[in-house]
Amino acid sequence: MTKRTALVTGASGLVGGYLLKYLLDQGGWDIVAASRRKPDIPGNYRHIAVDLLDPADCKSKLGSLKDVSHIFFVAYIERSDPRDLVTANLGMLVNLVETIEAVSPVLEHVHLSEGTKWYGNHLGPFKTPAKEDDPRHMPPNFYYDQQDFLEQRQKGKRWGWSAVRPHAVCGFSTGGPMNLTLAIAVYAAISKELGLPLSFPGKPGAYSALYQCTDAALLAKGITWMATEPKAANQAFNITNGDIFRWQNLWPKFADFFGMALAPSRYISLGRTMADKGPVWDCIVARHGLQPHSYQEIVAWGYPENVFASDYDIVSDMGKARRLGFHDSVDSKEMFLRMFTEFRRNRIIP
Ligand SMILES: NC(=O)c1ccc[n+]([C@@H]2O[C@H](COP(=O)([O-])OP(=O)(O)OC[C@H]3O[C@@H](n4cnc5c(N)ncnc54)[C@H](OP(=O)(O)O)[C@@H]3O)[C@@H](O)[C@H]2O)c1
Repeated sequence: MTKRTALVTGASGLVGGYLLKYLLDQGGWDIVAASRRKPDIPGNYRHIAVDLLDPADCKSKLGSLKDVSHIFFVAYIERSDPRDLVTANLGMLVNLVETIEAVSPVLEHVHLSEGTKWYGNHLGPFKTPAKEDDPRHMPPNFYYDQQDFLEQRQKGKRWGWSAVRPHAVCGFSTGGPMNLTLAIAVYAAISKELGLPLSFPGKPGAYSALYQCTDAALLAKGITWMATEPKAANQAFNITNGDIFRWQNLWPKFADFFGMALAPSRYISLGRTMADKGPVWDCIVARHGLQPHSYQEIVAWGYPENVFASDYDIVSDMGKARRLGFHDSVDSKEMFLRMFTEFRRNRIIP
């Protein structure tokens, strides 16, 4: 196979980190990782520290990358105002594509990471199972602006684009704000430390609603598949584990894993309730000799609070990717227990 050159943005984050590892393991890729922080991932790749929000920085740091065949845009920046969210996230993509397109005559593909928010799952109940060509919700939604930009920009070009729509990406990482597996494990550890049984902290309806997740390793494979499979060009794909579950069926397994009694579900605002539990976490870290991750660094509680507030089904249809040849799937219960074990083995949780 001819060697391809991947430019991976967001490699210091959850999704991009797994993608970087996957491409390194696969071989056959020259890899450049672009983010402000250096990814904590060993291997044979080049890291360029760049601020994608700054067009001049993009041009000066990335403007010599004339061999890039595949751009993987997996960067994301949080903004509380929805309009600012669009401006910032669209701006990073535009700066990157304009820079690379101008210098790399071998550009083949631009991949964009989206999510189930495309379907408006963050706004309330939506049509399920969600299909890739379902009607859009009332904007703003920064994914719409990003994908519209790519579609327009690609017209008449030799390169193609793809976009992935995962949900609740789960992986082994610390320091990313959107890490559901670690949030559940830290919530359990703090409950146990306080002598409490394990209760589901979400809305009553969320305990029984259908839910889905995406294993970050599966996602990395799916992204690479759609960026290199000609039949998948110029389209978006849902990528989830391929099973759906109800928290009420998983929570007893989690209680078993953490050696805790199961209590009835009890809705709390994790953001407010967990805000003062830093000292409890510090005690746990000290007594169990855990890695010294600060409480602020380990979980941003607003994320699991939002996840557990979804008291309606969250289900994406996986048929489109399957029909075009991506058949991988993951058992979500097995995934959670495997990741809890990995966090424990690495002394992140007790
Ligand atoms: N995590 C999930 O559960 C989930 C679910 C569905 C969809 N998604 C989507 O997947 C994508 C990636 O999410 P993630 O969870 O991996 O996010 P993340 O862990 O927060 O990572 C974000 C990445 O973007 C980079 N970045 C942010 N601002 C930058 C800037 N100004 N210049 C250069 N790089 C910048 C960060 O690097 P530096 O800070 O080092 O610059 C980091 O590597 C997003 O589009 C997200 O919406 C995620």
